[in-house]
Amino acid sequence: MKILILGGTAWLGRTIATTAIAAGHDVTCLARGTDVAPGTVVVRADRDRDDALASVSGELWDAVVDVSRQPGQVRRAVRDLEPVANRYIFVSSGNAYASQEEVGQDEDAPTLDPLDADVMASMDDYGAAKVACENAVVAGFGSDRTVIARAGLIGGPGDASGRSGYWPWRFAHPASDDGAVLAPDAAELPTAIIDVRDLAAWLVQRAEGGPTGVFNAAGTPVLFPEHLSVARAVAGHTGSIVHAPEDWLTDRGVGEWSGARSLPLWLADRSWYGMNARSNARAMAAGLVLRPLADTLADTLDWERAKVESGPHGAGLTDSEERELLANLDRRFDAEGGGHGPGDL
Ligand SMILES: NC(=O)c1ccc[n+]([C@@H]2O[C@H](COP(=O)([O-])OP(=O)(O)OC[C@H]3O[C@@H](n4cnc5c(N)ncnc54)[C@H](OP(=O)(O)O)[C@@H]3O)[C@@H](O)[C@H]2O)c1
Repeated sequence: MKILILGGTAWLGRTIATTAIAAGHDVTCLARGTDVAPGTVVVRADRDRDDALASVSGELWDAVVDVSRQPGQVRRAVRDLEPVANRYIFVSSGNAYASQEEVGQDEDAPTLDPLDADVMASMDDYGAAKVACENAVVAGFGSDRTVIARAGLIGGPGDASGRSGYWPWRFAHPASDDGAVLAPDAAELPTAIIDVRDLAAWLVQRAEGGPTGVFNAAGTPVLFPEHLSVARAVAGHTGSIVHAPEDWLTDRGVGEWSGARSLPLWLADRSWYGMNARSNARAMAAGLVLRPLADTLADTLDWERAKVESGPHGAGLTDSEERELLANLDRRFDAEGGGHGPGDL
């Protein structure tokens, strides 16, 4: 099959290209950069230009895979490629949904209002921009020729955000002399990661044919303590886990979810508890195969270890931040925190 990837120079797009090449497809990647997977044809173009797709819209394509987040880029791609492409696979996001609160939402949950503008003003527009992109694809190609993959949190080797790598890495490299690791006391927090390789494999399958429509392409939710337990086992950690109350962490400037001085994956605000707890039943029924979380975290740990030679992981606490916080935490909180004492995951 001939597959056109709009993107292909970044993490997911490159993994899709590698997977499609391994499956024997002819793959062309269109992007501004040239760092594409071996075996792919690269077409350099800036999608912010109106004529960006001129050099690919004269060919027939079995499938287009698009990872854009800019509505104007997608509107122009649909305009130029609908006459020559059989189906359009759009990588959207769970951020398209109007609410991130309800646990277990399926694809029929309401979405945000679409962004009118062609370009996001900031990442605050991300979800609305994805809705506008989705709408443009469905309007142009019709539901029968469209796959909308609302991806959940993507993890695995190559995750520069550090969200999937931090916990296995931290358990493998405790900062504290006694091996203790600091974690938020978030016993009810749902967490879900889809391995980038599983997502790419499913997207290539969808490019090949079969079910169309809207899918939550997300990992299966587990509670945060279970996620920590898997990360700890993968890392061979035998020290304790010290659970800090959420407001204690917030008061000390420890961030949630991602970034520097954060505890990755942690969400204190209950109105975000649905973000990583969506139903993936429709995608599973449509062939999505998820590897065990332990395999994803083990491979991500290997990748983090190799990367740490050249620089630190992308999120979390530094060793000195971790040691300082542990030193200041009154560990009686553990006893008061509802039975989540050190190491009792
Ligand atoms: N990470 C997560 O947890 C998560 C969760 C949900 C959904 N998602 C979605 O998953 C996808 C991730 O894709 P990705 O990893 O491949 O990364 P990405 O950074 O979103 O990829 C952007 C791609 O588009 C290309 N691009 C950007 N601007 C362009 C322009 N003006 N002209 C031509 N090409 C342009 C980039 O190539 P050049 O820079 O070389 O041009 C790159 O290949 C995105 O759709 C994202 O919204 C991610």
